[in-house]
Formats: sequence, C-alpha cells, structure tokens
Amino acid sequence: KFDKRKKLMHIHELATRFYNYLLTSSDIGKKGNKYFNQRGFGNNIIQEFQLGFAPDRWEGLYRFLKNKGYSDQLLLESGLILPRKNNAGYYDRFRNRVIFTICNHQGQVIGFGGRIIEDINQPKYLNSPDTLIFDKSKNLYGLNLAKKFIQQSNEAIIVEGYTDVITAYQYGIKNVVASLGTSLTSEQAKLLKRYANTVYIAYDSDTAGAKATLRGLDILKEEGLEVKVIILPKDLDPDEFIKAEGKEGFARSQSQAETLIDFKISNILKGRSLENVDDKIKAVKGIIPVLAKVKNKVELDEYCKKISERLRTSEGVLRKEIDKYKFKMR
Ligand code: UTP
Ligand code: MN
Ligand code: MN
Ligand code: MN
Ligand code: MN
Repeated sequence: KFDKRKKLMHIHELATRFYNYLLTSSDIGKKGNKYFNQRGFGNNIIQEFQLGFAPDRWEGLYRFLKNKGYSDQLLLESGLILPRKNNAGYYDRFRNRVIFTICNHQGQVIGFGGRIIEDINQPKYLNSPDTLIFDKSKNLYGLNLAKKFIQQSNEAIIVEGYTDVITAYQYGIKNVVASLGTSLTSEQAKLLKRYANTVYIAYDSDTAGAKATLRGLDILKEEGLEVKVIILPKDLDPDEFIKAEGKEGFARSQSQAETLIDFKISNILKGRSLENVDDKIKAVKGIIPVLAKVKNKVELDEYCKKISERLRTSEGVLRKEIDKYKFKMR
C-alpha cells in the first residue's frame, strides 16, 4: 500500500510536468496560456503554482502515462484516467481545461482542478476524485506555499477558490489557502491550527459564501482558533477585490474584519426593519442563543451594549432573555 502511494504520487508528478509543458511550451496550450495571462497570471506565477493545460484529446495523458509503463489499473486508481463503456479502453478525465495543481502541505502533487475556458455548457471546475493519496476534506489548496507565511504572521486567510489564492499570492498576500470547493472540515481546521492561532475567513461575498462562512466559523472556533470574517463588497471574491483595490485595499478590509459574534449578529439583523415589532422580536430571538454562548463577561457586556443600541432595546431586557434561555437549556 505504501508502495502504491509512492507510485500514485509519481504519476501525479509526471502529469504535472505533462500539463505544465503543454501550457508553457506548446501550440496546444497557447489558449490556456492566453487565458492565464488575461487573468493576470504571468510566467513566474505559472511556475510557482505549477499551472498547466489539459489537451482537447481523449487519450493525451493516458498515452503519455502508458508510455511510462504504468498499468491501466493503477492509472484508474490515480483518478486521472476513466474507463470507457463496455471495456472499450480508457480516456482522460481532464480535457481542454486549464489545470490547477493541488499539493499536500509537503508540496507533493496529489490532485488537480481543471477549469473550462470556452465551452460554457460544462461545469466550470472539475476536480480529481478522492483517491489513496487525495482526500479533499483533509487538504487545503496553497498550504505548501503559504505555511511559512502563516507561521510567521500567526494568521491564516481562508478563501474559496484557486484563483483567490493565486491572486492574493501575486499581490504579496501569501498566508492564504483555499478549502477546495467543499465546506470547511474539522480536519482542515486542525491543519491550520498547527501553524496559526487566528484565521480570517474571506469567502465570496454572495449568498453561498455567507452560508459557508457561518458554517466555517463554528468549525474553526471548535478547534480553538480565533476567527474573524473579512467582508468584501457585494458579489466580489478576493481575486476580483484584490485586482480592483490592491494589497492595501485588502489590508483595509482585513483590519475591519468582524468577530464571530459581530458577523452572526449582522446576519441576523440583515433585511430586518427595527420599526417593525415583529422583526425586532425575531432578531432578539435569533441573537439570544449566540450571546448565551459567550463565556467571557467583559465580552458579553460589550455585545449587550452594542446590540441594545442597534436593536433599540434595553440591555436589561437582553440580559433577562439570555438568563431565561440559559435556564431553559439546562
Ligand atoms: P467559484 O465559483 O467562486 O469560482 O468557486 P472561482 O474560484 O471564483 O473561479 P473563477 O474566478 O470563476 O475562475 C470557488 C471554488 O469552488 C470550487 C473550485 O475549487 C473553485 O475555485 N468549484 C467551483 C468546483 O469545484 N466546481 C465548480 O463547478 C465550481
Ligand atoms: Mn504530514
Ligand atoms: Mn463562489
Ligand atoms: Mn473568481
Ligand atoms: Mn469565486
């Protein structure tokens, strides 16, 4: 089994070289290169992140790896090759896509993400499946490059996508990782805890991003990390925001990041008019369980003050409701 892992790693190493060579040095990959350049990714970034291009062929990578002597069985287990119907041979998973190379924290290649650049009737990203060497829930994209910067600053920034990581890096924000499309797991939180005490969530500023943020917050907090939320202007992601506002703009947003509680409270208050008694009652109902979890008395005092102002209720009422709630939960 150990030997098989090694072989699968080697297959990924070869595939990385294959995709990267096509991107940088062949006519086949020209359009991929053009695409990355249009997104602002130049040659240095392409090499540092080992970006690539998967050709528009059914058996491009398959033939390349067969020539290196690997068995069909092992190639299937790599996740990079798929079986055709009726035992009629094999074909490449990634075709006609630009390639993002996924490494583990030690920098060994364990999977890929492929993005379409023209055909819109396909899913935007395709990723490697879980294999013997790749478990999406246990890895973070970019950690191999980011870890020393995360350790130095004792802070990590977590984003949604490949391009968010790469753009941030290019602008000199290097303590950034992505959660690989899925929602954040406790394994990923533990991985970050090895390098930092504080984690900033900077997910896309849309509904999906806000939902993922709320889930991520609790998971990170449970691992004992200090968590803050970077709020970006509506409908932007870090890639777009950093390109528009630069490193300084992002640093400004980071310095204004909301605490866990503030973010939850903002979410509960979102879209509610406090002129409306019904809405006010609902807002208080939503906030009480959040406040009841705050153990630190000084912190709780701060929040009660802030919220009573925002809700235009008295602190006394809030405190009573918190006590009532705690009593009910015993
Ligand atoms: P987004 O839809 O926000 O994409 O998904 P993006 O990163 O901003 O990509 P660009 O800027 O359009 O190129 C965030 C992440 O979710 C995963 C990918 O890891 C992506 O980077 N994802 C998204 C998928 O795995 N599959 C998809 O179809 C879409
Ligand atoms: Mn390890
Ligand atoms: Mn998104
Ligand atoms: Mn994007
Ligand atoms: Mn995005």
